[in-house]
Amino acid sequence: MDLVVVSNRVARAKANEPMTGGLAAALLPVVEKSGAIWVGSSGRVRDAAHRDSFAEIRTLGAGALALLDLPAAHYGGYYEGFANSALWPALHSRADLIRVSHDDYASYREVNAFMARALMRFRKPDAAFWIQDYHFLALGAEMRALGVKSPIGFFLHTPWPAQCVMVGVPHHRELIEAMLAYDLIGFQTEGDRENFADYLRAHLGLAARDGVVVSRFGTTRLAAFPIGIDVEGFAAQAQRAMSHPEVSRLRRSLHGERLAIGVDRVDYSKGLVNRISAFDRLFEMQPALKRTVSLLQIATPSRGGIAAYASLQDDLARQVTDVNGRHGEVDWTPIRYLSKGFGQTVLAGFYRTAQVGVVTPLHDGMNLVAKEYVAAQNPADPGVLVLSRFAGAANELDAALLVNPHDIDGMARTIATALAMPAPERRLRWETMMARLRAGTIHRWFSSFVAALEATREPAGTPPWSPEVRPLRTAGGALYH
Ligand code: F6P
Repeated sequence: MDLVVVSNRVARAKANEPMTGGLAAALLPVVEKSGAIWVGSSGRVRDAAHRDSFAEIRTLGAGALALLDLPAAHYGGYYEGFANSALWPALHSRADLIRVSHDDYASYREVNAFMARALMRFRKPDAAFWIQDYHFLALGAEMRALGVKSPIGFFLHTPWPAQCVMVGVPHHRELIEAMLAYDLIGFQTEGDRENFADYLRAHLGLAARDGVVVSRFGTTRLAAFPIGIDVEGFAAQAQRAMSHPEVSRLRRSLHGERLAIGVDRVDYSKGLVNRISAFDRLFEMQPALKRTVSLLQIATPSRGGIAAYASLQDDLARQVTDVNGRHGEVDWTPIRYLSKGFGQTVLAGFYRTAQVGVVTPLHDGMNLVAKEYVAAQNPADPGVLVLSRFAGAANELDAALLVNPHDIDGMARTIATALAMPAPERRLRWETMMARLRAGTIHRWFSSFVAALEATREPAGTPPWSPEVRPLRTAGGALYH
C-alpha cells in the first residue's frame, strides 16, 4: 500500500528548529520512517490557480514531503476564520468564542476542495489516505466527489465536545455529515468518540453499532487511538541535552532553587491565566516558598491575527508583570516568562531540569508536553507531573497529580504537594507513568491506525492487513502523475 498523510501544518525536517505544536512534531519521525508521502501547506499562498500548485516535493526519510501553496483568496477565511475561529473554539468547548461568517465557511470548503484536487496527483489503486485534524473535516467528502474509492481515514487531534456545543458551529450538520465519507475516524479518547456518536444520534439520526455508522457514503468506523511519543528516543534526547549550552545556562541560573516548567502555545484552551494565578496563590499561601521555586513558562505566540489570541497575549503579559511585581525581589523573579519557541532538544533538557511539570489545560485533545515531561526525567530522581484532568493524557497518566484547572487554590496546593513529594513516591509514580507511555508509543499509534484503515478495504471477516508501508519512488522528484 502507498500511504498519503495530509495535514495543514507539516514539520520542518530541521532537528533544532522550534516546532509549532504537537501534531507536526509528533508525526515527523513516524512519517519519515514509514515511507509515506506527507502533504501539507507550504505556509505560502498563491493568487491564481496554477496548473500545479505543489510548491515543492522533496524526499523525507523513506518517503516524501509535498508542500502546497494554498489559494490566497480563501486562506484567511479557512485558517483564521472557520478552522480557528469556529471549529477550534467549539472543539475546545468555548462556543462563546465562535466568531465566523458564512464566507469563512465557503473558504474552508474551497480549501478542502482545493486540497482534494491536489491529492489526485497521488491517486493509485492501492493508495490509502490519512487526513489529520479539524482543518480538513470535509476533505474526504470532496475526494469521494472526485471519484476516489481508496480507504480514507481521519484522525482528530483535538477533543470532540458534548453534542450541544457543536451545534454552535454554523453549518455543523452539513459538515459533520460530510465526515462520514471517511472509512475510519480516530479520536484521542473514548470520551471524544462517545461525544461524536452522541452528535450523530441527536442531530443526524444515525446510530453507531459496535463503533460502526452507516450513512449514504457507506460504513464509517469510529475508534479511539490515543497518540503517544517516541518514549525511548525522547528520554535519550533529554539525557544528551543536559550538556547543551542553553540547558547548562538554565541550570546555572537556578542557584539551587527549584524549577517548575510549563510549555504551551498561547491559546485560551491551555489554561495559562489560571496557571499563573495558581502560582500567585502559591506564593500568597506559602510565602516560605518564595525564592525556593520559580516557574519557567515558555509561551509560544500562536494565531496572533485572531482577536481572542492577541488579547490573551496582552492579558498574560500584564498578569505576569503584576505577579512578578508583587512577589519578586531585586534578585529573584517568580515567573520567567518567555514568548518564543525552542527546539525539541533544548526543551527535553529543560524538562529534565525541572522538578515539576505543570500541564493544566482547560481542554486538550492529548497534550504531548505532559508525555514528554515524563519521558525526559532522570529515573533516579524524577520530577512530578501536575496534570489537568481535562487533558486527554490524564486517561493514561493517572499517576500524575491530577488537578482541576478551574480550582486555583486546589492547583496551588497541589503544586506545593509536588514540591514536597519524597523521592520514593516520585519514583513510583514515574515508573507507573513510564509503563503507560511505553505501552502506547507514537509508533504503535501510527501502525494501529494504518492497520485499521487498511482493514476497511477488506470485506468483513478477512484477516487484518500488515501495517508495513511501501517506500515511494522518489527518483528525480517525479512521484505520481
Ligand atoms: O490539533 C491541534 C494542533 O494541530 C496541535 O497539534 C498543535 O498544537 C496545534 O494544533 C497547532 O496549531 P497551528 O497549526 O494553528 O499552529
